[in-house]
Amino acid sequence: EKGGFDWFMRKEIFEQPRAIADALLGRHDEAGQLQLDEVRISDDELRDIDKIIIIGCGTAHYAGLVAKYAIEHWTRIPCEVELAHEFRYRDPILTRNTLVVAISQSGETADTLMAIRHAVKQRARVLAICNTNGSTIPRESDAVIYTHAGPEIGVASTKGFLTQLIACYLLGLYLAQVRGTKFGDEIAGVVRELAQMPANVQTILDDAESVYALAQRFQGTRSVLFLGRHAGYPVALEGALKLKELAYIHAEGFAAGELKHGPIALIEEGLPVFCVVPPRGRDQLHDKMISAIQEVRARGALTIVLAEASDTEVAAYADVLIGLPTVPTLLQPVVATVPLQLFACELATLIGHDVDQPRNLAKSVTVE
Ligand code: M6R
Repeated sequence: EKGGFDWFMRKEIFEQPRAIADALLGRHDEAGQLQLDEVRISDDELRDIDKIIIIGCGTAHYAGLVAKYAIEHWTRIPCEVELAHEFRYRDPILTRNTLVVAISQSGETADTLMAIRHAVKQRARVLAICNTNGSTIPRESDAVIYTHAGPEIGVASTKGFLTQLIACYLLGLYLAQVRGTKFGDEIAGVVRELAQMPANVQTILDDAESVYALAQRFQGTRSVLFLGRHAGYPVALEGALKLKELAYIHAEGFAAGELKHGPIALIEEGLPVFCVVPPRGRDQLHDKMISAIQEVRARGALTIVLAEASDTEVAAYADVLIGLPTVPTLLQPVVATVPLQLFACELATLIGHDVDQPRNLAKSVTVE
């Protein structure tokens, strides 16, 4: 049943190229035009949307954080992201033209379910991004985009997360197409990049051994930090969550720009710091991230840098370099997350924890 793997989680990590391909299947034509037939909200209604609020918990919330960067950039619709349990109890401002996007792998998370019930009562439109056919959250939503990852058994979300990202990108591009905020060829260009993702993720999986060697090296570590900016920031949060829940190690993800506002005081000799470096583009993100790496390194941190494999500039500041395929900044989380999943899975295995059933956790959290 585990297909020769020791854990469901590891099997699910390796299923990701296929899961991504399935999430994309039938959702665009040859020309890169999107077809999201399951979104049963009319084009006119989608054109009237003036605010998007994305809700979810845990890893699903991080998928929402990535989605905000992409959706706002492509559609220019203001987009908020909130933990479902916080959203529910703060009297959010919702109208008929608010689109609430609920992200949930299981479709049964009580916090997210209560939040959409509240949104429905306020007459907002609710779209679910969900992996489980016929589960409660999509049943109570106006529309659903299924992620088609296949059953996810390991408590830690892996292929669930990557396919949530894909669904969010598809939603953003679809909204851009319907509202005409991006030209067709721009949308088609992103769709072409998405179509490369199964192969891109596969190249990282093919090099899993080098991440496993890293886990071996950090077996005795008590604390690990993760830094990122822009779309790399949620990746840092996700890398930290995976380590907490599987290896029971203190781990924190930060937006790199926050370092000097406090967290840099945590840096001490030998502290492992994972740094997610955006692709070298025209903007300043890449250089800013390099300065952050220099700052922590100057204070003794051991930097494990995830960057484009072809990024020669960053290599000088990396104690360990994990090469990523070249992809657009907004899509980089799809590839950058994978080494962090492999690292957490392997480290927890080496420590001797039950990777599929971490202590104190359940696969779907059906109580508020
Ligand atoms: O089923 P959901 O996507 O609604 O679950 C949300 C979170 O409980 C879930 O992502 C949790 O954070 C995972 N254990 C993370 O690996």
